[in-house]
Amino acid sequence: MKNPPKSFDLISPTAISAAYCRQFSDIPYAFELAQQVDACTVFEQHGGNNLEEIAPLLLQIEGRYKAINHLITMFGFTQIIELASGLLPRGIEMSKNPNITFVESDLPAMIDLKKQLVMQLIGKRPNLYFEAIDATSRPSQFPIHANYLRKDERVAIICEGLLLYLTFSEKEQISANIRDMLQQYGGVWITPDISTKENWYKMQENKPKSQRMVQTISEKTGRSIIDNSFDDREHARQFFVEQGFCLKALHGSEDTRYGGKKH
Ligand SMILES: C[S@@+](CC[C@H](N)C(=O)[O-])C[C@H]1O[C@@H](n2cnc3c(N)ncnc32)[C@H](O)[C@@H]1O
Repeated sequence: MKNPPKSFDLISPTAISAAYCRQFSDIPYAFELAQQVDACTVFEQHGGNNLEEIAPLLLQIEGRYKAINHLITMFGFTQIIELASGLLPRGIEMSKNPNITFVESDLPAMIDLKKQLVMQLIGKRPNLYFEAIDATSRPSQFPIHANYLRKDERVAIICEGLLLYLTFSEKEQISANIRDMLQQYGGVWITPDISTKENWYKMQENKPKSQRMVQTISEKTGRSIIDNSFDDREHARQFFVEQGFCLKALHGSEDTRYGGKKH
């Protein structure tokens, strides 16, 4: 029998490593957030030391952030629920627009830290909320009945850098929670977390330093990123369709619609 997955809290320091990577980008507040915590030390513990060697990882982290922002703007969503926010600056950035309701969420310890850091940086914003949510928990901890959400407006549920740590049964649980939320409000789930074993194996061959960092992170979190990845894009497509989603894959300039059941 396989060992049960380790506590989700072991995953939380990876948010600090991701913040370290983002500080070299032009993403607003990324530098400030990374400076507030000892991001460099955590990054080194995760096996990162030479930035040039892990440049592909930096670009991926910057790219996924900007891609999600682009889609939110393109679809015109004004109610946003971000899962596993970590130290992402998106809530700070987007809640500058008073028409946007932005909910940051993460495990209790991480969201408490985030709230504290955001308060130090920008103070309180009436349209920026912080919720402790284990995204996989059933019953759901999502803010389905929150009085700050407008019932007649669609929501965008977003997550980046989370699914790759979750087992397939945990991915089913998060999917069920998102489905419940979308059934109530309508809207979309936007995620770049479609990592495939195919891609990891390619990385192993071409970018051994990035691959070694992935290995260290798997050991520290107790979660095998490779085992938790989809076999290939077709496997990912099948998974999300089985969970009841209608899919639209956007990569590069390609826009592919996949058939699905409900959302
Ligand atoms: C790799 S970090 C990504 C953080 C952020 N999304 C980013 O891109 O910088 C993974 C995040 O998932 C959070 N996390 C782990 N398990 C979770 C769960 N069951 N529910 C919600 N968040 C979780 C961790 O606390 C951590 O913030």
